[in-house]
Amino acid sequence: MQNKQRVVILGTGGTIAGRSAQAGDNVGYTAGQIGVDALVAAVPALAGEALEAQQVAQLDSKDMDHATWLLLAQHLAYQLARPEVQGVVITHGTDTLEETAYFLHRLLAPPKPVVLTAAMRPATALLADGPQNLLDAVRVARCAGARGVVTVLNGQVLAAEDVRKVHSYRVEAFSAGDAGPLAVMEEGRLRLFRDWPQGQALGLAWLPSDVARWPRVEVLLSHAGASGGLVEALVAQGVRGIVVAGTGNGTVHRDMQAALQRAQLAGVRVLRSSRCVNGAVVGDGLLDSAGALPPVKARIELMLQLMAPSAA
Ligand code: SIN
Repeated sequence: MQNKQRVVILGTGGTIAGRSAQAGDNVGYTAGQIGVDALVAAVPALAGEALEAQQVAQLDSKDMDHATWLLLAQHLAYQLARPEVQGVVITHGTDTLEETAYFLHRLLAPPKPVVLTAAMRPATALLADGPQNLLDAVRVARCAGARGVVTVLNGQVLAAEDVRKVHSYRVEAFSAGDAGPLAVMEEGRLRLFRDWPQGQALGLAWLPSDVARWPRVEVLLSHAGASGGLVEALVAQGVRGIVVAGTGNGTVHRDMQAALQRAQLAGVRVLRSSRCVNGAVVGDGLLDSAGALPPVKARIELMLQLMAPSAA
């Protein structure tokens, strides 16, 4: 008997919806061209399933912005509240996938599955990865007991907190680092290694609908020859928070470190993270630690903390 519970697919663009003039071209394409209905129609195994598709945005995720995040979070909250909706799939670009996943999980920590999927090759590629990823994502959204925001690509299910893009080109572009995958999808079957992600939802009610009122939080990189100049420029522009992507275990060039301490004294919140691909910032330092969060997720965390006192 067909499952009457629905899976809603929200389209936002990305390479999964990308088109190139030549089928063999995996880099010279334009992201965010093909509508979400057409992406679903391109997967014969999804025919006859109880699905609804809605286009929320159509962009290259390098251009993701706070207004689109807010719109997406509102659509997502609406769909999750519908009793007939079993789970939601979001098609997205790979470039900021981990940021959107983290943002949505912190806001909604959903009791139903929210599955972000994407592709490294455009829909017009000779061997497009999008259709299989979309099929796997719908299968994960249908899993009994599934909950929380996860990503599904290349047969791996990764938690929003752990997922990172670690390769610029290959189809196996994502990793959960030390945490490892939550599950794998094998021929439509889920092999689960640990519990689904949980968390305390911050909710949406307190988020300013005018995103211009969201606090400005920027990421800076510490490197050989780094200075305090960019920190000072940001403070002069009224930045509210700075995440520094430090070297190694979140260490910061002494000139930049001094400028960051001055910024802290001036009331700017500063978090230090690591520019290393794996590992967490371990131990205390003169600047607050972002723990295991990579710089881009620490930026979201700090922005949320500055807006929602309950996030701190
Ligand atoms: C994007 O992030 O929208 C383009 C790149 C990709 O999806 O792989």
